[in-house]
Amino acid sequence: MQINYIGHSAIELVLSQTRILIDPFITGNPVATVKATEFSPSHIILTHAHGDHVGDTESIAKQSNAILISSHEIVNYMAARGVTGHGMNPGGSFQFPFGKVKFTPAWHSSSFADGTYGGMPMGVIIEADGKRIYHAGDTALFGDMSLIGRKPLDLALLPIGDNFTMGPEDALEAVKLLNPKTVIPIHYNTFGLINQDAQAFKKAVEAETSSQCVVLSPNETLKME
Ligand code: NI
Ligand code: MN
Repeated sequence: MQINYIGHSAIELVLSQTRILIDPFITGNPVATVKATEFSPSHIILTHAHGDHVGDTESIAKQSNAILISSHEIVNYMAARGVTGHGMNPGGSFQFPFGKVKFTPAWHSSSFADGTYGGMPMGVIIEADGKRIYHAGDTALFGDMSLIGRKPLDLALLPIGDNFTMGPEDALEAVKLLNPKTVIPIHYNTFGLINQDAQAFKKAVEAETSSQCVVLSPNETLKME
């Protein structure tokens, strides 16, 4: 499995059989160095309806025939725009051809730019190629992360930007509840309100927990074996 960090919360997962995009905010993303037209995923996973996560979902889904996996409400909204989707809700899991997807709660909000309700905001757990990874979406710290951490986690992608989501202090608490082998900070330094020192976060994580913290710049990759 390979994690390509596009920037902000946008991730490309390279699996043995396919590629998956999570929260593909690329066009207009101040830190992204790639173009939306470069991607050809089989599936796109959206954690919630905010513009900095939905991003290029519609155009990428159309250019690649990707299936959207998200909340019931987001899938319905995008279906009206010609995108094929698979709707789910927090707590639900489903076995897709590439692996198992389970949505978790997230403490946040979820509406489209036009105000349409996007259902519950969510995090997502993906089990594929023998790995178990958690993308927290946009969320506050919550104690039930410890339940997510009861089964070994290979990777946690956690927002550290503060203001809209957990900041570094709460994300450090999240690492303690999740106990992942590796943590990658996301959702920071995209714009001024969420500027953070990721190296300081890495230092704190590695001083106070047994997790390794990998700070990726946009367009950098983590290979997990
Ligand atoms: Ni959001
Ligand atoms: Mn966001």
